[in-house]
Amino acid sequence: MTKTQGAAVLGLRGVRKSFGDHIVIDGIDLDVHRSEVICIIGPSGSGKSTLLRCMNFLEEYDGGEVVINGRLLGYSQDAGGKRVRDRDVVVDETRRGVGMVFQHFNLWPHMTALENVTAALRLVKQMPKAAADALGAEMLAKVGLSDKAGQYPARLSGGQQQRVAIARALAMQPSIMLFDEPTSALDPELVGEVLQVMRGLAAEGMTMVVVTHEMGFAAEVADRVVFMDAGRIVEQGPPSSLFGAPSHPRLRQFLETWRQRNAGFATLMSGAADQHLREGNQIHAR
Ligand SMILES: Nc1ncnc2c1ncn2[C@@H]1O[C@H](COP(=O)(O)OP(=O)(O)O)[C@@H](O)[C@H]1O
Ligand SMILES: [Mg+2]
Repeated sequence: MTKTQGAAVLGLRGVRKSFGDHIVIDGIDLDVHRSEVICIIGPSGSGKSTLLRCMNFLEEYDGGEVVINGRLLGYSQDAGGKRVRDRDVVVDETRRGVGMVFQHFNLWPHMTALENVTAALRLVKQMPKAAADALGAEMLAKVGLSDKAGQYPARLSGGQQQRVAIARALAMQPSIMLFDEPTSALDPELVGEVLQVMRGLAAEGMTMVVVTHEMGFAAEVADRVVFMDAGRIVEQGPPSSLFGAPSHPRLRQFLETWRQRNAGFATLMSGAADQHLREGNQIHAR
């Protein structure tokens, strides 16, 4: 069975969201199937974060439907068929299956790594301390941080903090994980360790939606890449077609800008390497 033949964990139908009269999400349809990894790319301001936030009702969408594991998120029909917002306890219940990782890790500074991971287990799931600690330790091990359980966030690198944030989301045993530019706030040398953890999750079959500018990661890990512009999905497909044969002009322009920026860097680096060699040769010539 291919991934797309399984049940949809998350389904969006005609989702819309405006801030005042600014339409930010303009009718989005998207199904995410079990074990699928979807990477969302697109220019800044195209609505990627807002879309992700609608997927767990951090933003209340104004139109369309977000369905998680078969349940409409955030709203019900009243007796007259009118849509009414669910009470917060009902919303929380529905979105408990959705884990989210943000660009800024948002760890509690006064709690250790383990306490950060177990806080919601204790408070939301009412899990006894021993069981929460055991599960928390297991999740920290999964992100390679068993030895940091007792550390406070200020003593951890950005990459380690983000891995704690991933462990915290995983501890709730979500059926889908959403990542909003999880490596954008990191020093470049710390990006790899976070992507490595995400690669591991994908390999284990975790269902994931990842907003990212890491095109290499998207090309390697995504089953499907979705390109957004101005609140719409402009093009989507497997990485090979989206990156290899983009058809929409806006996507081609977006990828071209990205290539130029990276090509500029590559030229600079090879220039530096040339100079290094020349200097080396001069030393040898002397
Ligand atoms: N809370 C908000 N209030 C008003 N406008 C917002 C709010 N959040 C986002 N926007 C606007 O919505 C648009 C899309 O933002 P966002 O979803 O953050 O895009 P992206 O993540 O693709 O950069 C932007 O024009 C942004 O200014
Ligand atoms: Mg964003």
